Amino acid sequence: MLILGIESSCDETAAAVVEDGRRVLSNIVASQVEEHKIYGGVVPEIASRRHCEAVSAVVKEALKQAGASLSDLGAVAVTSEPGLIGALLVGVSFAKGLALSAGLPLVPVHHLRGHIAANYLSHPELEPPFLCLVASGGHSNIVLCEDYTRFQVLARTRDDAAGEAFDKAARAMGIPYPGGVEMDKLAETGDPTAYRLPRPRVEGAPLDFSFSGLKTAALNLLHNAAQRGEAVSVPDLCASYRRAVVGCLADSFRQAALDTGVERLAAAGGVSANRLLRRELEALSKELDRPLFVPELSLCGDNGAMIAAQGYYERLAGHTAGMELNARPSGGLQ
Ligand code: KG4
Ligand code: ZN
Repeated sequence: MLILGIESSCDETAAAVVEDGRRVLSNIVASQVEEHKIYGGVVPEIASRRHCEAVSAVVKEALKQAGASLSDLGAVAVTSEPGLIGALLVGVSFAKGLALSAGLPLVPVHHLRGHIAANYLSHPELEPPFLCLVASGGHSNIVLCEDYTRFQVLARTRDDAAGEAFDKAARAMGIPYPGGVEMDKLAETGDPTAYRLPRPRVEGAPLDFSFSGLKTAALNLLHNAAQRGEAVSVPDLCASYRRAVVGCLADSFRQAALDTGVERLAAAGGVSANRLLRRELEALSKELDRPLFVPELSLCGDNGAMIAAQGYYERLAGHTAGMELNARPSGGLQ
């Protein structure tokens, strides 16, 4: 069954056609990053406008590259939550119109379920259950994926998401948005032991994350150095900061793997592209002798293929919606 997946929750307008939840026939991503860069972050109003302009052409191109017409599709899947409400509404409204006019089932997809499903595209042999570290610009969770559409959230962040923590600290270091990617590159050349930074833990919830104190520590370090007229080595600070963020993610994930005993380990979301995180998870996989699954780099960030992949399994489970479907800015993936 061919599924068209549409994604517009943040700053990428994306559409893709995927066969049986596993084989990518096309995957078109129109990024707005360059435009948001000058503001240092995503401007929601601009994001919505750009989605409106791009969505039709992006969907057409996805169908064209897949060699598919609307009559070949089994469903239209769309990210309906969570995300920027004005941005989500563009994809949801477009998908509703398309599904209604073509007589196709409409399948709402949770964005984080989509990120997790990117692993089905990169690893056709992967089946639930598995334990997944989901880290993006808006969320950081450890999720027990019991089945394709049944999830248990074992850990969450109490404040900033990991990607947000990277982006905000990067911005203070003068690295342009989205700073996580560039910080990762700079960190490769820096000394991770150069600066001492805390690794905050949440009292009474050992698996949960808290990144705002770590971010503040980095900002204070930069302010203090500026006041004293001391130079800060950006590559060293990037490396030290990355080590602290990745350390928090990897330590909790390791604990969750031990607590649950789940055999397969996975990661997903924009931050799963992080080189150090991938190396740490590889090491954990070796240490525990359990296989690790991470999406290929091109599928870590937001894309339509992951929405189509999850949409396939939601469709099989009968999770379709009618024209009353609305977008939701927040909402858990359980
Ligand atoms: O999943 P995603 O594309 O969008 C959201 O759903 O939020 O994640 C974007 C986030 C941004 O914060 C970006 O800085 C971060 O993922 N990111 C990275 C890397 N690549 C993307 N963070 C650290 N290292 C990377 N290599
Ligand atoms: Zn995302």
